[in-house]
Amino acid sequence: MTAGAFTGAGRRIRIQEVGTRDGLQMEARFVPTEDKIALVDTLSQAGLAKIEVTSFTSPQAIPALRDAEVVMREIARVPGVVYTALVPNVRGAERAIESRTDELNLVMSASETHNLVNLRMTRAQSFAGLAEVVRTAQAARVPVNVSLSCVFGCPMEGDVAGSEVFGWAQRFVDLGVRGLTLCDTTGMAFPTQVSAITRAARERWPGTELTLHFHNTRGMGLANVLAAIDAGADRFDTSLGGLGGCPYAPGATGNVCSEEIVHALQLMGHDTGVDLGCLIAAARRLPALIGHDVPSQIVKAGRRLDLHPVPPNLDAVRERALARER
Ligand code: COA
Ligand code: ZN
Repeated sequence: MTAGAFTGAGRRIRIQEVGTRDGLQMEARFVPTEDKIALVDTLSQAGLAKIEVTSFTSPQAIPALRDAEVVMREIARVPGVVYTALVPNVRGAERAIESRTDELNLVMSASETHNLVNLRMTRAQSFAGLAEVVRTAQAARVPVNVSLSCVFGCPMEGDVAGSEVFGWAQRFVDLGVRGLTLCDTTGMAFPTQVSAITRAARERWPGTELTLHFHNTRGMGLANVLAAIDAGADRFDTSLGGLGGCPYAPGATGNVCSEEIVHALQLMGHDTGVDLGCLIAAARRLPALIGHDVPSQIVKAGRRLDLHPVPPNLDAVRERALARER
């Protein structure tokens, strides 16, 4: 029986690559600007819906992405792909807009403690600053997405109350942002929780583009993606090779891995529009760029039907097995 016999009812699922931002921001080795551009160009050909190309943060804070302008300006843009970038403040928004970024991705944390540690501001201060960024973007007619960190738990506070998560998200929706991303910054989410929060968000904001952003810190990444799909989500941030993490979140590890998620969703009959072979080839080139192996299980094991050659002595093994019957 072929895999097709087990395939479920497919849905269109959009895969948004964040490895070039969430991934590379963590890397000790500076990836040369031309290699970043080549990587984004490869990803552009792979059928991804969105690519978070870089971040327009302070170069002291995130030196790995200090070449944001050059990368954003020199990538070869494929029509239909949204090229987004993380922006922490008005200065970053101006740099991003100047570099023709399609969408600004704003971040703040649903957790007060994580926000203070990561962004050195209270949430109220972050919100006030980001509201100004939203106005800057709107004046330039550039859409905004807001990524809310620690929605599924904070590594320092523990569970974050739903009223906090939904309250802060609502304030951004009221400002007219296009999209909201619910982030599991440190891999604390679990499937039943994901299901409830996703369902509630879809009901509350039917007109807002909703993305789920999971890290695989505790091995629940794919389970969380599947739970979110069942609850109505159709957009996911993933990272090539499973790179990623937040430099200010203790124990944070990689995002859910792009090729692992695409591989699983394709087997289940979902339409991601992604060329898996292209993605795997790009992931296999990552270790040479960053100087270490990547977590991707697909890089290690290959696809489900990448079959192994049978041992050359198989006929002899069969003969001996049958001889025992005689
Ligand atoms: N782009 C370029 N430079 C920036 C900048 C931006 N978006 N924002 C601030 N700077 C510069 C300032 O010009 C200043 O430079 P100077 O010392 O040469 O004058 C320096 O950074 C400090 O600026 P300040 O306004 O005091 O900000 P800060 O030090 O409190 O930094 C953030 C605030 C949020 C901008 C900075 O910490 C940051 O970019 N953090 C990145 C957070 C992040 O991306 N985390 C991972 C994602 S979850
Ligand atoms: Zn993340």
